[in-house]
Amino acid sequence: MSTNKTFTMIKPDAVLDGNSGAILKMIEAAGFRVIALKKTQLTPERAGEFYAVHKDRPFYNDLCTYMSSGPIVPIILEKENAVADFRTLIGATNPANAEDGTIRKLFAKSIEANAIHGSDSDENAEIEGSFFFAHTEQF
Ligand code: RTP
Ligand code: MG
Repeated sequence: MSTNKTFTMIKPDAVLDGNSGAILKMIEAAGFRVIALKKTQLTPERAGEFYAVHKDRPFYNDLCTYMSSGPIVPIILEKENAVADFRTLIGATNPANAEDGTIRKLFAKSIEANAIHGSDSDENAEIEGSFFFAHTEQF
């Protein structure tokens, strides 16, 4: 059963470029409600834990370095069909392949520095949201 929640993280390139507000405006305009939000920074170890599913991929070390290189904005979101609709809103991993009007098409710099994360399943949305937020911080 769908939980109607997803998890996202505005990545260091987008935060440092001052694009957090513009990205959040697009997210809310698309009908997502903010359940929890903060600004924080990952250590390389915590970035590695978050992306542990990719630990055997060639880009893993670079990904951990990049994701810990500056502040991030983790956010829990709610909307009907949240996981799939959010992946549509952010667009393809590589901005060169992202549809016009998607967040990555507008704000991503490269396949690595691609502005934003989106959970790929209801199960991972719950795990990833809990990675950053206590249940008492989710409204
Ligand atoms: P995300 O998990 O961040 O929402 O991204 P995604 O599902 O679209 O892509 P995924 O395959 O899960 O990759 C996670 C992140 O790793 C970086 N990446 N770099 N250099 C590369 O070839 C490469 N491939 C992926 C990106 O930051 C990607 O979002
Ligand atoms: Mg992914």
